[in-house]
Amino acid sequence: MDARIAAARRTLGSRVTILGHHYQRDEVIRFADVTGDSFKLAKFSSKSSADYIVFCGVHFMAESADVLAQPNQKVILPDLNAGCSMADMAEIGQVEECWKQMVRLGITNEMGEGLTPLTYMNSTAAIKAFCGEHGGLVCTSSNAPGAFDWAFARNAKLLFLPDQHLGRNTAHNMGIPLSEMAVWDPFQIMGGNTPERLRKAKVILWKGHCSVHQRFLPEHVDNVRAKYPGIKVVVHPECRLEVCEKADDIGSTERLIQIISAAPRGAKFAVGTEIHLVNRLGKDFAKDDKMVITLDDSGCLCTTMFRISPQHLCWALENLVEGNVVNRIKVADDVKHWARVALDRMLEVKTDASQRVFAKAASGLED
Ligand code: 13P
Ligand code: SF4
Repeated sequence: MDARIAAARRTLGSRVTILGHHYQRDEVIRFADVTGDSFKLAKFSSKSSADYIVFCGVHFMAESADVLAQPNQKVILPDLNAGCSMADMAEIGQVEECWKQMVRLGITNEMGEGLTPLTYMNSTAAIKAFCGEHGGLVCTSSNAPGAFDWAFARNAKLLFLPDQHLGRNTAHNMGIPLSEMAVWDPFQIMGGNTPERLRKAKVILWKGHCSVHQRFLPEHVDNVRAKYPGIKVVVHPECRLEVCEKADDIGSTERLIQIISAAPRGAKFAVGTEIHLVNRLGKDFAKDDKMVITLDDSGCLCTTMFRISPQHLCWALENLVEGNVVNRIKVADDVKHWARVALDRMLEVKTDASQRVFAKAASGLED
């Protein structure tokens, strides 16, 4: 399989770019031209000049690459089953219904004067487009604080989709008390809130989560510290607040790698994120005498990231060699326009604001 992938890759030359998210398996990511977190990969795909962008990641990442791509470029997702359960927790119809209720309550007008919609990258292109059209934007885990600054510069309130945890962690780190946050449950009348609660909230959090990151619990932090004195705990901001509060640092997948990379020889880390990345870091940094282990003993994998297998990558590349584009991800033109607006706003957000706020975690959070 490796030999076939390498041969197809060689034949395609500069016509193809293979992008690999950090959660991909070793057998797949070794073929990536560029690896990164969702922000880095989105930025790279907006600059790539290859005819084909083969995205070894999940559906929302490939959609974003298509929105940012040139009209002649084609984006391919080797297995169409590689979705994201968190992204599936917000459907455009539900978001439109929520917005209608906000308008009815006088919290915002139709165009977003009153409330800025801000969506995590882990959402459908339709939701990104909704945010773009209503004066909002997209963020990733590496620039959420900067995106919050952007949103608050326009309105005193924001609606954060679909990950309540990234939204809560970011708002909390900015000093917004939990009493000024409300959770919108799309399966409840008025999202499960009273009108007063919604009017008082500075941040309205969509009730979505990542099942992989919800497995990490505060007691895992206590246990690992008791077992390995001096160990640093670093976690992804999709983890719950109680875990993030106890951690030494928080960051996107790319930033977690940077933190470990910058640490001195002999450093020990327990990492709260997807197991393929953690295991790879364990192997890669063993040569520098650093220990990297998962925060939770049972280390959860992202089953949808895992869908991308060497066989699927091989099949996609060999088809390209034969002139067939398989599994193309193509966002409809009307959706593309506003999704692009929302993504462009994200690309303009300063990432130093993100570092400023998430770095606070290292010195402890105050409510
Ligand atoms: P990153 O942008 O940090 O890579 O996160 C993407 C993701 O899906 C994490 O679960
Ligand atoms: Fe989605 Fe969670 Fe997988 Fe990330 S780890 S792609 S948020 S299911």
